[in-house]
Amino acid sequence: MWRYANPVAIHWTGDVTRLLPGLLPSGKGVLFAYPQFREPDAAGLLSGPLDGVPVFSGIENNPTPGQVQQAIDFAFPLRPQWILAIGGGSVLDTAKLVRLALACDCRRIDELLELTPREPRPPGPLLLAIPTTHGTGAELTMWTTVWDKGGGRKLSLSHPGNYPDIAIYSPAMTYGLPLPVSFAATLDALAHALEALWNRNANPVSDELASAAVQLISENLERLADPVPHEVRASLLQASMFAGLAFSNTKTAAAHSISYPLTLRLGVPHGIACAMSLAELWRINAPQMPRKAERLRRLLGGEDFADALKRLLRFAAARMPFTLAAYGARPDDLAKLVRESFTKGRMDNNLVDLSPADVRAVLEAAF
Ligand SMILES: [Fe+2]
Repeated sequence: MWRYANPVAIHWTGDVTRLLPGLLPSGKGVLFAYPQFREPDAAGLLSGPLDGVPVFSGIENNPTPGQVQQAIDFAFPLRPQWILAIGGGSVLDTAKLVRLALACDCRRIDELLELTPREPRPPGPLLLAIPTTHGTGAELTMWTTVWDKGGGRKLSLSHPGNYPDIAIYSPAMTYGLPLPVSFAATLDALAHALEALWNRNANPVSDELASAAVQLISENLERLADPVPHEVRASLLQASMFAGLAFSNTKTAAAHSISYPLTLRLGVPHGIACAMSLAELWRINAPQMPRKAERLRRLLGGEDFADALKRLLRFAAARMPFTLAAYGARPDDLAKLVRESFTKGRMDNNLVDLSPADVRAVLEAAF
């Protein structure tokens, strides 16, 4: 028995400025955007459909509870009918939490993070999300991540009220993405797709979507070089969308679980932190899903996916720091990193149960 559902309406467009006015409800709105979002790169939005809309652009990477609280404090007095989020995962996650805060009339981030997923989706302002990276899939999921950097904890809220109402994909919105961010985002999407495949919650729909994402990334990641061809951006954005739809239903698994302390303790960018364990986790999981492995081999024109994955990771590793040592890890950090790798609700989705010794071996391979 299985079920697949995702309530987000998807629009794909070559021209956000023309599409947006038809999607925005009447009434007041607010814009959450990444810090550098301004004309002329903003695709004419700020001088067009978003003219005069209050903008909050103080959201940093991996936002802390305090930063999300500032965003909530910004939006509450405005009582918007709609919220538009334009950015990567951190901006989208923040906007999701702000919408939920307004919907629940819950002003405090600490109270918000205590909501449970069983509560129904409350009505609130319409939330539209435009991803500007081809990686996080945050525009398609019901969870948000907040980083308590001082306490060394990753806080997560899973709630149906976190789903955006509308996701708008426009490849042009990703054209300005710097290459290192492009690699990290693409590897994050690859991790989402693979984690959806080696997942206890996988179903035929998520498998199809995830396989399509893996194929698109395998064909396009090595074309990430300045200047990035526009069709490569479009393919990677589509891959990110497919992967997002897949893992929106399965959740992630061991690679993400292992990544969290790497980001919190060592500052490894999320996509890289996830990708560091993929080759080892494929080796561990693939024997338990031979039909999926064979399907990937066919999709890749006969190339074994273990070889394809090593090729992709080598390509990325030649262009950016890709080992734990490069991010300042020392051998005596390993025990702590292993201990903090077991996130409930993530690690337990993995097809194969991993022991602390298994995780240690995975991390040693990434050293
Ligand atoms: Fe991710």
